[in-house]
Order: sequence, then C-alpha cells, then structure tokens
Amino acid sequence: MSDPINKQINQRSTDDSHPAGDAPPPAVLIVDDEPNTLTLLRQLFGREIPVLTAGSGPQALEVLADNHVGVIVADQRMPDMSGTDLLAEVMHRHPNIVRIILTAYADIDTLLEAINTGKVFQYVSKPWDNRDLAMTVRSAMETYKLRRHNADLLEQNSALIEELRQANLELQRENVTLKREVSGAYQLDNVIGVSSAMKNTLRVVGKAIESDATVLINGETGTGKEVIARAIHYNSQRRNRKFVAQNCGSMPEALLESELFGHSRGSFTGAVKDHRGLFEEADGGTLFLDEIGDMPMPMQVKLLRVLEEGEIRRVGSNTPIKVDVRILSATHKNLRDEVESGEFRRDLYYRLDVLRVHLPALRDRDGDIVLLAKHFLEKYTQRSGKRVGPITPRALQALSEHPFPGNVRELENELERAVALANPGDPIDIDLLSSEVVGDREISEISGGNSSLRGRLREVERRMITQELLKNNGNRTHSAAKLGISVRALQKKINLLEIKA
Ligand SMILES: Nc1ncnc2c1ncn2[C@@H]1O[C@H](COP(=O)(O)OP(=O)(O)OP(=O)(O)O)[C@@H](O)[C@H]1O
Ligand SMILES: [Mg+2]
Repeated sequence: MSDPINKQINQRSTDDSHPAGDAPPPAVLIVDDEPNTLTLLRQLFGREIPVLTAGSGPQALEVLADNHVGVIVADQRMPDMSGTDLLAEVMHRHPNIVRIILTAYADIDTLLEAINTGKVFQYVSKPWDNRDLAMTVRSAMETYKLRRHNADLLEQNSALIEELRQANLELQRENVTLKREVSGAYQLDNVIGVSSAMKNTLRVVGKAIESDATVLINGETGTGKEVIARAIHYNSQRRNRKFVAQNCGSMPEALLESELFGHSRGSFTGAVKDHRGLFEEADGGTLFLDEIGDMPMPMQVKLLRVLEEGEIRRVGSNTPIKVDVRILSATHKNLRDEVESGEFRRDLYYRLDVLRVHLPALRDRDGDIVLLAKHFLEKYTQRSGKRVGPITPRALQALSEHPFPGNVRELENELERAVALANPGDPIDIDLLSSEVVGDREISEISGGNSSLRGRLREVERRMITQELLKNNGNRTHSAAKLGISVRALQKKINLLEIKA
C-alpha cells in the first residue's frame, strides 16, 4: 500500500487463518472514501490499537491481504464498492475478521439484510459518538481475539486428534506385533504354564498354530487338552471360522455318525428334516474330536474315508459335500497301544497323529501349581464377587505337595470350592482345602512335627472336626452325629481348639 502508516504498522504478512504467535497485535482497518473520517478515526485509536486505512473497498481488500487485521470498520456509501458488499467479500475471504458498518443515514433495508446474513457484526450510525465507536471497536477486537483463540484451539485440537489417531494406529500395529511375539513365546491366552515341561509342550503348540496340520493332543484327564485345542484354533489362520467340538466316546455309533456327517430327511425314524452335521458346521474352521480313542470301530472307518476324500455324505444321502475342515483330536489313552491291541485303526491313527501335543501331568509341572492356584483364586473370587484370599503359604505348600490325579481340573475345583466355603475377608488356608489335599500333608506334618503327643492329637482332632464341619456346610448337628459325639461336646471342642466355624 502506498499509505506510509500502513507500511509502518503492520509489515508482516499474517494470514488470519494462522495463529498470531509473535506477530504484531491485530489492527483495525478503517475504510472510507472521505479522508477526513480516516484522519479522525486514526487519531481516535492511534495509541490503543494499530490502525490501518483504505480509501475504497478494493484497496481495503489489498490491505487485508498483507496485514493482520482483527476488525474492519467500513463506510456504507463509497463509490467503487458499497460497505456491505465489501464486508460480504471480507466475510468470504477472512471469516474471523469482525465487520462493522458505518452508515450516515437509515439505509435500513440493506443494513438489515447485511446483519441478517451475517455480513455485518455491528453498525454504527453517522455521526458517531467517539466514545461509543471506540467501545464498539474495542469489544469487536475482543470478539476477534476470542474467535482466533477458538480457531487456534480447534486447530490444535484437530492436530491433537490426528496425533491421537496416528498413535492409535501405531498402537494397533504394535499390538499385532506384540501378539505375534507373545504367541511366538507361546504365552497363549487362558493357557497358564511356566514349567519347563509346559514350555516344551507350548513350543509344539506354537508349531501347530503356524501349520494347518492335523493334531493329536494327548494327556491325562484334566490336563487341559480342550484348552489347548481351542488355543490352537483361535490363534490359527482359521480363527475367524468356527471351532466345533464333539465327544466321540459318549454316544452310540449311529448317533455320532449323524452328528458328524448330518442326515437327510427320512434316513431313519425320527429324521424329520435334513440335518447339517458338524463337518459342514465347521467348514473353513476346526473340528475337535474329543476322546477319539473311544470312537467305535465302524465310525473310525467312516472318518478315515472322509479325511482321505475331503468330502462327506449325509446319512441317507449319496451326494458328496466338499468340506475344508482341520481336525484336532484328543485322548487320554495311549493310542499307539490301542493300535497294537487292535482297538484303533492304524491307518486312521497315522492320519490323526501328524503333530503330537503331549500335555504333562500337573504333578510334573514344576511351579505351575502355585501359578494356577492363584489364577483360579482370582477367577472364582471375581465370579463370586466375594473378597477372599490370599492363599496362605501353608495352603500353597499343601497344594504343591498334592499329586493331583485329576490334574488342572482337580486344582480348579479345589479353588472353586475353597472360595465358596470362605467367609468374606478370609485367607485361603488349609482348613478350606479338601481332605484329599490336606490329608497327604497331615500325615507328613504331624508325624514330622516335634510337639508333644497331646499337641499332635489336638491337631488331628482340630482337623477332623474342621473337615467334618466343612463337609456339612457348618451344620453342627450333622457333624456331631458323624463324629459320634454330642452337639454340646462338639461345641466345647470348637471353642477349645479355636476352630473357625
Ligand atoms: N494351562 C492351563 N491354564 C489354565 N487353565 C487350564 C489349563 N489347563 C487346563 N485348565 C483348566 O482346567 C480345566 C480342564 O481342562 P480341559 O477340559 O481342557 O482338560 P482335558 O484334558 O480336556 O480334560 P478331560 O481329559 O477330562 O477331557 C478347564 O476348566 C480348563 O480351563
Ligand atoms: Mg476334555
């Protein structure tokens, strides 16, 4: 601009869409075709607010392009461009600038339209009162600063939101890698085990997850064969399709056949409609054949054929149906022995035993008992909503010394029962454990203790009474009857031996 004052005030080009930062404070731009007005107003704001001036609408737009302006005051009547037209343009180009119209006469219609459509923020009528005008411009400048502040915040917010979105994406990516690493280390969800025996097993489970091979899972009752089968499926490529389980030992052959392969209507009495079997159900996913060692011989033949051909026929139908199913099977038996004794088909055995996962007995998993016990305590306290625990060192030791013929399931039942019996706030001590678990310990502890005979007998008495009370849910009449003493005598002993009942 040729106006020297304009140059002097606001050299820096600041686009009003950007934060002001260290830019000079926003100026007020006065637009009027009468030089007198400009001089007057410049004097009015001179010190307080930087003032820029323009003699016409087009000139004003040029000034706006180069300077940081917060408020524009335009005269309505100007030769090239009316004040409202200028402000409409300003609204379009610099929406944050607060727009004020100066109008010498009641050009009411134009003014109202301009106000209604938001082109004008305020109007000041000519001749104006200097104090009023100064006030109006001051408050307009405040409005502008607020708008800018809001715009900045909004911008920062969207920058933050974008940052968050990026961080989230990053987190998701990390999660995926982490999951991969975790399953690489074979720390599968719901599968607890740190013992070296379990680590070896989980290494094979990792291989089973990566491949699509048939897996035979072997282990004593309660060692977690089904848990492992699910872990394999839900971590494998087939995880988004179904996992279907069927116990092969629990039903007669005909029923098992129709369960697995389905049947067509009328194929036998009671087959009132077509029925999809589990093979079709599990198409694309995994079929878990539990207790495979108990599968009747004729079914073994049919299963073998399905595995060889990759297709099934519903009972009563000759139409083959292609299925893509991964087979996991489990047994507590030694299948090789079963093969030798002719109980299990050798050819089927070889088909099933491609990858072998052997689950060690719990007594062979050093350190896992304590970990699992804590895990189940957590599970059942959460489920019952009752705050009990922790497990006392004595109880942990008793658990660690028990051979657990029923393996993890027996340990789980033990904890479930203890939590059910405990009063809120109680720790899990040996009085809450079953006689199977504590019994083993009792003998070793009492015989190894160095207290007097009387002391040892009292201890035995205390345990017998505690256990009887537990068995009878604290019912003293029943417990006394079982112990062969009177209720009064029982009560006396409870007090004497300080039994919590
Ligand atoms: N490693 C483990 N971590 C956590 N829970 C386990 C683990 N292994 C087994 N369990 C729990 O123990 C119980 C028995 O597991 P599961 O049913 O898988 O055993 P199983 O070997 O199939 O038994 P069965 O031979 O009697 O069919 C389940 O409640 C399961 O949740
Ligand atoms: Mg099972």
